[in-house]
Amino acid sequence: MAEHLLEVKDLKQYFPVRSSFFKKTNLKAVDGVSFHIDEGETLGLVGESGCGKTTVGRTIVRLYKPTSGSIKYKGTEIDDNNIRSFRKEMQIVFQDPYSSLNPRMTVADIVGEPLDIHKLYSSKNEREEKIANLLSLVGLNADHSRRYAHEFSGGQRQRIGIARALAVNPKFIVCDEPVSALDVSIQAQIINTFEELQDKLGLTYLFIAHDLLVVQHISRRIAVMYLGRIVEIAPSVELIENPLHPYTQSLISAIPVPDPDTAKKKHRIVLEGDVPSPLDVPSGCAFRTRCRYATERCAKEIPELTKRSEGHMSACFNK
Ligand SMILES: Nc1ncnc2c1ncn2[C@@H]1O[C@H](COP(=O)(O)OP(=O)(O)OP(=O)(O)O)[C@@H](O)[C@H]1O
Ligand SMILES: [Mg+2]
Repeated sequence: MAEHLLEVKDLKQYFPVRSSFFKKTNLKAVDGVSFHIDEGETLGLVGESGCGKTTVGRTIVRLYKPTSGSIKYKGTEIDDNNIRSFRKEMQIVFQDPYSSLNPRMTVADIVGEPLDIHKLYSSKNEREEKIANLLSLVGLNADHSRRYAHEFSGGQRQRIGIARALAVNPKFIVCDEPVSALDVSIQAQIINTFEELQDKLGLTYLFIAHDLLVVQHISRRIAVMYLGRIVEIAPSVELIENPLHPYTQSLISAIPVPDPDTAKKKHRIVLEGDVPSPLDVPSGCAFRTRCRYATERCAKEIPELTKRSEGHMSACFNK
């Protein structure tokens, strides 16, 4: 079998926090996550706010050091000693193009900074040429380069953020909700740009969103997270048409349907209660407190992610 581009095994990311004045505790933001991504594919990662999506993305590119678990890139385990050689291969595009770009820097400064850091040019002309190429790659003009980030709209700013990520010629990009802060009308354009760049440059994406609608189009497979764990993972169409985990079923039932007749027939599953605090995760299956199929067993044992059909895994005792 061909090697996966990225292979994550039992990844845990615990943040030490103060739960009260006297007590320190671990916030288990990511608690045993395993998945792989093949070269050239997009894996979507969805789940409600606070379930650990960003933490997974940031830990993979080593913005955070993992508490435990392994991250292999092209078969090599990434650790503190060799991370430098992977820095250029893996990049991240952030959610908020307003706060992630320094408004006092020109576009040329923002896109050129990674070129400077990694010394990727031998003359000033070459640097300018590279910046112009990067801007054109993401659909901006070369003469935008003298302007400041704050002069641009959200969508254009996100294009600047993408150009910056592409500057070091990466193979793998974590896209952390790159369109969530944008107007709906702009979201599709930016997603199209991500797809075009993927075709042109052979990129591999981990594409994070809290909205299934956003990821289903761009992703070949989708993983669903709930409170620090993956509860289901499957090819996109399979996940949408045949969701097995009760949490995935509720997410899918909440997708708005444009056709009123179909909408009437659609049964919406409304989840009771809020997501529990990650400081106080329920025993056993973390979803059981909101699950209509929960049994005694669910409070005692944690259901493992198990194979249900080819490429389709779910972590539930009852469904
Ligand atoms: N640096 C940190 N220190 C302490 N706790 C953190 C840190 N980063 C994240 N958390 C906590 O970890 C949990 C997961 O956060 P994370 O940002 O990964 O969620 P998310 O799924 O990306 O949410 P969102 O959809 O809101 O972006 C949350 O409870 C969050 O408060
Ligand atoms: Mg996030």
